Amino acid sequence: MTKKIEAIIREEKLHDVKVALQEIGIVGMNVTECRGHGRQGGIELVGRTGPYRVDLLPRLQVNIVLSDHNLEKAIETICQAAETGSVGDGLIFVYPVEDVIRIRTGERGHDALMYPDDIDVRKR
Ligand SMILES: Nc1ncnc2c1ncn2[C@@H]1O[C@H](COP(=O)(O)OP(=O)(O)OP(=O)(O)O)[C@@H](O)[C@H]1O
Ligand SMILES: [Mg+2]
Repeated sequence: MTKKIEAIIREEKLHDVKVALQEIGIVGMNVTECRGHGRQGGIELVGRTGPYRVDLLPRLQVNIVLSDHNLEKAIETICQAAETGSVGDGLIFVYPVEDVIRIRTGERGHDALMYPDDIDVRKR
């Protein structure tokens, strides 16, 4: 079975998250820029004319589709690498994935998620 991790992280944490995932052998991912807010609803900044609110803050969305058995390890790794300890560190959403198809080969599911020297290949 396959899951998708959608991690919303601080922009400046991307490098650390990528390196940490590479170290455990999680290879494929895609990253998109996004804006959002969580439960604080943004932040208050003070300008020359007084305080104003920035309600949508820039964040990165890191998407990773991976096998179920690698999910917890990946979550743990992202949490460690993306944490600063301050509000706004982000959230991780997990979704079930129906199928994966590698276009070039027609491989599906787990086979389409195999990469040279990835977390599963290393276990062998
Ligand atoms: N419920 C949500 N659905 C989708 N995206 C969200 C949701 N909540 C937050 N986000 C996205 O995650 C980013 C980071 O959220 P944030 O870390 O502030 O969450 P939080 O729940 O407020 O936790 P904290 O109290 O640690 O700040 C937001 O900027 C937004 O892009
Ligand atoms: Mg917040």
